[in-house]
Amino acid sequence: MTDPAIASGALAQAGASAPWYHPQGDEVSLFEAAYAARMPVMLVGPTGCGKTRFVEHMAWRLHAGREASCEPGLITVACHDDLGAADLVGRHLLEDGQTVWVDGPLTRAVRSGALCYLDEVVEARRDTIVVIHALTDHRRLLPIERTGELLNAHDDFLLVVSYNPGYQSVLKDLKPSTRQRFMTLAFDYPPPAHEAVVIAHESGVDEAMAAALARLGAAARALDTGPEQPAVSTRLLVHAAQLMVRGIDASRACEAAIVRVVGDDETLRQALRDLVEITLP
Ligand SMILES: Nc1ncnc2c1ncn2[C@@H]1O[C@H](COP(=O)(O)OP(=O)(O)OP(=O)(O)O)[C@@H](O)[C@H]1O
Ligand SMILES: [Mg+2]
Repeated sequence: MTDPAIASGALAQAGASAPWYHPQGDEVSLFEAAYAARMPVMLVGPTGCGKTRFVEHMAWRLHAGREASCEPGLITVACHDDLGAADLVGRHLLEDGQTVWVDGPLTRAVRSGALCYLDEVVEARRDTIVVIHALTDHRRLLPIERTGELLNAHDDFLLVVSYNPGYQSVLKDLKPSTRQRFMTLAFDYPPPAHEAVVIAHESGVDEAMAAALARLGAAARALDTGPEQPAVSTRLLVHAAQLMVRGIDASRACEAAIVRVVGDDETLRQALRDLVEITLP
């Protein structure tokens, strides 16, 4: 079985500092309140705006006090249209001629009390999404059909999912009965002053360049590119800045990290190049 999960939390257990996260509003206190009520959380927002970093940060904050021997505080699963229930819950495998049951990432999180982050949950197959229903209401139960086990979630367990409404087709939208199980935190690209702080911190670029890149991001998002075109994300601005601090010329860095990344439309590319020229020092 290829385990789609990425576990993190060793940092927290080693006493290192939390993954750096620059809050946009009250999302930290809302998440803490949801966690205190063990209310599942859905993060909605476009690509590269800080959702994953936020979950990493929150998992660290909430689980920093856990024993070093515990499972990691955060187990992340990138969902895709082939992801079935067994990929989350587990399956029987052959080991030395014996059939053994191997927990999937969701089951590991439920047993150990980790946060389980299902990234792009709408991409998963319908049967997969149904698996989380009993886990995300007052029952907090994971039925493991194959073994007949009915697993009570560990007290510390919480399910967090992300959802990007812009990219999925309407057909793939979540059913209200799924969506209404989650408190929703809406994310977006931050205003330039805020984004400049993120760019500077993540790349080490100087303040003037970070501010210029943030202005470039805002101007690029204001272009009328249609709903299909992904925006210039915070991630891309950080990438451009990371190339610059390694000696790459500013316009070359923007070409490689931003202009060539957001789309194949030559008119859009040219508009972005013009913005780069106007906004960068
Ligand atoms: N508020 C923030 N605090 C700290 N870093 C941020 C923040 N917002 C964006 N970033 C930076 O942007 C990068 C991309 O963010 P992240 O991976 O969290 O995006 P995402 O919303 O999970 O995107 P996707 O939907 O594509 O998974 C991060 O690695 C980090 O460098
Ligand atoms: Mg992410």
